[in-house]
Amino acid sequence: MTSPLDPPTILDATDRLAWRASAHAALDVALDHLDGIRGRAVWQPVPDQAKQALLEPLPREGQGLDDTVAAFRDSVLPYGNGNTHPRFLGWVHGSGTEAGVVAEMLAAAFNANLGGREHAAIYVEKQVIAWMRDLFGFPKTASGLLVSGTSMATVIGLAVARQKVLGQSVRSQGNGAHGLVAYTSAEAHSAIAKAFELLGLGSECLRRIASRDDFTLDVGALEAAIRADRAAGFRPFAVIATVGTVNTGARDDIEAIADIAAREKLWLHVDGAFGALAILSPRHKDRVKGIGRADSLAFDFHKWLHVPYDAGCILVRDGAAHLAAFSSRPDYLSGAARGLAAGEPWLCEYGPDLSRGFRALKVWMTLKTYGTDALGAAIAANCDLAQYLGQCVERDEALQLMAPVALNIVCFRVCPEGMDERQRDGLNGEIVMQLHERGIAAPSLTRVRGRAAIRVNITNHRTTAADLDALLAGVRMIADKLSVTS
Ligand SMILES: Cc1ncc(COP(=O)(O)O)c(C=O)c1O
Repeated sequence: MTSPLDPPTILDATDRLAWRASAHAALDVALDHLDGIRGRAVWQPVPDQAKQALLEPLPREGQGLDDTVAAFRDSVLPYGNGNTHPRFLGWVHGSGTEAGVVAEMLAAAFNANLGGREHAAIYVEKQVIAWMRDLFGFPKTASGLLVSGTSMATVIGLAVARQKVLGQSVRSQGNGAHGLVAYTSAEAHSAIAKAFELLGLGSECLRRIASRDDFTLDVGALEAAIRADRAAGFRPFAVIATVGTVNTGARDDIEAIADIAAREKLWLHVDGAFGALAILSPRHKDRVKGIGRADSLAFDFHKWLHVPYDAGCILVRDGAAHLAAFSSRPDYLSGAARGLAAGEPWLCEYGPDLSRGFRALKVWMTLKTYGTDALGAAIAANCDLAQYLGQCVERDEALQLMAPVALNIVCFRVCPEGMDERQRDGLNGEIVMQLHERGIAAPSLTRVRGRAAIRVNITNHRTTAADLDALLAGVRMIADKLSVTS
């Protein structure tokens, strides 16, 4: 029986067979893209025609799935960031997996909201958190949450630290004149200062401690800074260590920093954005020694686990403190003893988001599909390739290694005779741009001790030694051409 109140259209297709054919064809577009990845340029500029196609007015009439997928295939898909390509070597990007493609599709079909309540998706996220808690040696009473990335995970970890030191009133009355100070290395990621800004503590209260020659935090300088701050009347409350700094992959001495944190009663937050998951490689797990002593740990699945963007994680040793920092349950969100509204505590009580997507599925599926042995082996292979590249650089007199290869990052520069350091900065910047524009490889550019460096980050399970040879050949070819024309 139909009613005049029934909607004129529902959004589900009426021709079910045609819809399935269209959906399968769309999946083929995705799979074809991945199958052909090695044959394409790493990156190519977005042409005007594609930009123009993305300036159309808001569609009042639908164009149907086939035409919409075709628009995506023609105007978006060829002009990506390139991080699924084996010679994408820039910043710190994961390279994605085929299981991730399927997981995203299944998660969309399920369309779960993981803010809370009693349903199976919640148990998938709890399973992932329990796996991570045990992997990193956190106690059973620890808590965790999947978030957009390490930036958000850092905000959450430090919000719990702030609440621990200032007490529950910080939620109703704000920070007040807090006098709080915290410490991290000069090499720490900018996300940490941003977290201090967002929490209203101000980035000036984050002391940047000088790093040693190997780019790790200088533990002696940390102790001296704490002493000086206490003498000046400040309240030290946290220290942030990094496992795998973004610029060079350096690993702070977590054990030594944890000892200082314990003695000084400071919250220890570890930024393990990519480096934490080195724990999955039996050959490299020593490099994260002490990570289980953190009060909070932020890391990403979308980097070295290759889970499709976005997927990060926060673990907090004191689960009760974590809950106290974020829990808020107005009447319309109250729980129940039974039924759909059960399932206490809800996951929205561990972070700022109420509505939460099913990120956990792609993490759970990645771990189950490949297993930690294969994922750890991919991490180990990346570290071996970084060593290989570092040795190639050291063997070439025209190249200079700019930092020790601590994990998976290699920073180097081309140093032609007869150029001063400023000219070399310009040359290396131009080389990186041309590598991108020619579609050869995509390293990124950074500064190491103030000098421009070609930065090769290998968090890519598709990269081979031949890809690194091709990168170096590209660097030398462009450098030669530029030296001739300059
Ligand atoms: C060491 C480190 N910390 C924090 C971040 C920020 O992580 P996300 O981009 O997932 O927010 C990064 C990103 O590369 C990083 O390398």
